[in-house]
Amino acid sequence: MQILIINGPNLNLLGRREPGIYGSRSFDDYLPELRAAFPDFTLEYFQSNHEGELIDKIHEVGFSYHGIVLNAGAYTHTSLALADALAAINVPVVEVHLSNVAAREEIRHKSLIGKNCLGSISGFKLESYRLALHYFDNMRPKRVGFKV
Ligand code: DQA
Repeated sequence: MQILIINGPNLNLLGRREPGIYGSRSFDDYLPELRAAFPDFTLEYFQSNHEGELIDKIHEVGFSYHGIVLNAGAYTHTSLALADALAAINVPVVEVHLSNVAAREEIRHKSLIGKNCLGSISGFKLESYRLALHYFDNMRPKRVGFKV
């Protein structure tokens, strides 16, 4: 199964960025562990701080891969363009956040992209990504109306 993890703005600084909120481990450090946990997946990773690059990547894989795990960072709360890109594709997307966005500032409570995702996992630091991959691993065959 071909899955792409996409991280948006500032997530290249994971491990160094506000570790009390986002944890002290970098994504590059975590990725080999994720790959080992899902040996049947072809797990690709893309990070960008640029909205257009995120959209281009979603267009590129959004009609052929089996799934996308997306942490859009602050674009979650602001980007109608990203929400439109997700509406345009037919690959299922799971929204993830490291922090529990519901417990943070009010502006982070609203996700513009959420309505175009299958669901959202928030608050488990890097484990949020593993939980999203479990969905693709376990739930996919059971889910009625799965898009791919
Ligand atoms: C985040 C939450 C967003 O509100 C924030 O802008 C981020 C990271 C998270 O993973 O908790 O950059 O998506």
